[in-house]
Amino acid sequence: MANETQYAINQKIKHFPQPVVKNSVFSFLSHLTRFPINNVSDLERFLQEVVNETSQLVKAEKVTLTFPKSIRYSNVISSKSTNSKENNLSISLPLITQEDGVILGFLTVDKERGKIITQKEMALLKAISQLAALKIQNAVLQQVIYQGIIETLKVLVNVVEAKDVYTRFHSQRVAQYATSIAEVMGLPQADKDVLKIASLLHDIGKLVIPDNILLKPESLTPEEFEVIKYHPLVGDEILAPLRFFQKERIIIRHHHERWDGSGYPDGLFGEAIPFLARIMAVADCFDAMTSDRIYRKAMSFENAFKKIKSLANIKYDPEVVRAFEFFLGRQYGIKI
Ligand SMILES: [Fe+2]
Repeated sequence: MANETQYAINQKIKHFPQPVVKNSVFSFLSHLTRFPINNVSDLERFLQEVVNETSQLVKAEKVTLTFPKSIRYSNVISSKSTNSKENNLSISLPLITQEDGVILGFLTVDKERGKIITQKEMALLKAISQLAALKIQNAVLQQVIYQGIIETLKVLVNVVEAKDVYTRFHSQRVAQYATSIAEVMGLPQADKDVLKIASLLHDIGKLVIPDNILLKPESLTPEEFEVIKYHPLVGDEILAPLRFFQKERIIIRHHHERWDGSGYPDGLFGEAIPFLARIMAVADCFDAMTSDRIYRKAMSFENAFKKIKSLANIKYDPEVVRAFEFFLGRQYGIKI
């Protein structure tokens, strides 16, 4: 009986045409989004969650599966068990999109040779694979929407940066510094991703600042500076309706807060300032100091960092400054 069932499954699997099998979820994603997917690790984490969740379903249904040692995702049919015992086999169920029948990958379960797969178990596995396919497809669609919004927002940031040659590419450099600090501090990938997007968008609120203030070559009057101080609030408001960017909003709102409470817009003090915003404050100021401005020349990396270090515990979180010092030493050999 077991052999017959396995034979039947193998026969079914053999009928999937090879080019379709190659159409893994990653290439499917790349195709849909029309650019290489660079957050494969995120996607894999997501898939692992799907697999965990669907495995929970097995328990919830109170059907005891006699064979699975594990349920896992793979983008090819797996014929080898992850279990080292040679007498184990695995079966793969395709994850097929409902509308167009594209195979997104396979849910693979291990089975001991000689164990019978009951009809009920098979039906359950089929239900699980359908659910997983639906979840993957939803994730793909969300990813497409998310990337579309990011690209649109980046265009708006480019509009701000294009007005002033001196601030061109500022946001990208801030993103590099901020994510490097996060890496030194051992923050999880999710925080680095949030920091990257927040950095790219942090000055989006400058869209509403009049050019005569934004591009003024001389020092700003106190009144003009009050206008500049609106930009974190405006950035926060621009992102407010977009449910994807709630964490980024917090960083954008608070990237001008200062450790001693002298910053804006809310005058937050010390650890009341969101941690990722403290990282971005250092990255933002360092890039501003080391870039030419219409009213002054760029400082050297050494002098800019000396200045930042002298303001640790005053304007900046000392732990963040220490991490940045480590990064600058490792990356540029800067020793202060
Ligand atoms: Fe800013």
